[in-house]
Amino acid sequence: MSQDQRKQKRICIVGSANVDLTFRTPRLPVPGETLAGQSLHQCMGGKGANQAVVAARLGADVTFIARVGNDGFGTQAIKAYTAEGINTSFIQQDDEEPTGTAVILVDDDAENCIIVIAGANDRLAPDDVRAASSVIEQSDVVLCQLETPVETTIEAFRLAREANKVTVLTPAPANSVNSELLALCDVCVPNATEISAIVHQPISAEADAIRATELLRGRGVNRVALTMGGDGVLVLDESGPTHVPATKVEAVDTTGAGDAFTAALAVSLADGLGLVDAARFAVQVAAISVTRIGTQTSFPSLEELNNWDRRKVNR
Ligand code: RIB
Repeated sequence: MSQDQRKQKRICIVGSANVDLTFRTPRLPVPGETLAGQSLHQCMGGKGANQAVVAARLGADVTFIARVGNDGFGTQAIKAYTAEGINTSFIQQDDEEPTGTAVILVDDDAENCIIVIAGANDRLAPDDVRAASSVIEQSDVVLCQLETPVETTIEAFRLAREANKVTVLTPAPANSVNSELLALCDVCVPNATEISAIVHQPISAEADAIRATELLRGRGVNRVALTMGGDGVLVLDESGPTHVPATKVEAVDTTGAGDAFTAALAVSLADGLGLVDAARFAVQVAAISVTRIGTQTSFPSLEELNNWDRRKVNR
């Protein structure tokens, strides 16, 4: 698929925008411990913004609906998204709360833990989405996550459904997932922790994963793509479960890989691919992202992806 063809596809993303402070550390600290880190990286993050950047780098026509603070980080974020070619007309700079911030620890095994202070993200309201209803109506796919209020996500999906658009959800964090939201969701892209929390089913074997995706479909979601890191992706659609293997790479930092996967999946769905083929494309995008530190600094362009020699890493 050429960049020009992808440009015609419109993705509307409603969600969070953060500044990410990533601390490299040999291992994750235990409670009460002070640990010397190796390095500090700052870049723009937030699940919504990450997905917007990935979709734009893959050639989609992207509008991002979000709230940042009326502060230096907020202004810097909008500038960065504009440079990526993202339509920022529906990003508000909030006078009450600062730009969201994430502190991310990444150890030598590429394990991470993240603390997010939501700030202005918590003030993204259904009215902000209604103000952009014409954009939603003209989109091919509407993509949301849950780092902003769930009622805002529900409003975005409600408008998308009314306009017969495909809705894709990253249910993270999973604690605000409810039945109304799931019933509006065409494609749900949880990881193992999130799906366990939603369907109350622990996952320790492949059979558990299949059962969990079936239970999630039973909650009103049409199709599921369960991401399992190095174990690949389990897709469940009308024709049953399909396992899509991960592309093997040397992982440095897996933060944002789920966002890379989901946005690439959304772009491929907008291009007309089926869910399994979309997942096969998206695992490549996620694989490149984990080979680099940071979130938005790690996402590939379509050009890089096309030049990427999978034979070198797919051992
Ligand atoms: O999914 C990764 C993202 O989660 C980071 O960019 C961080 O900001 C948090 O939102």
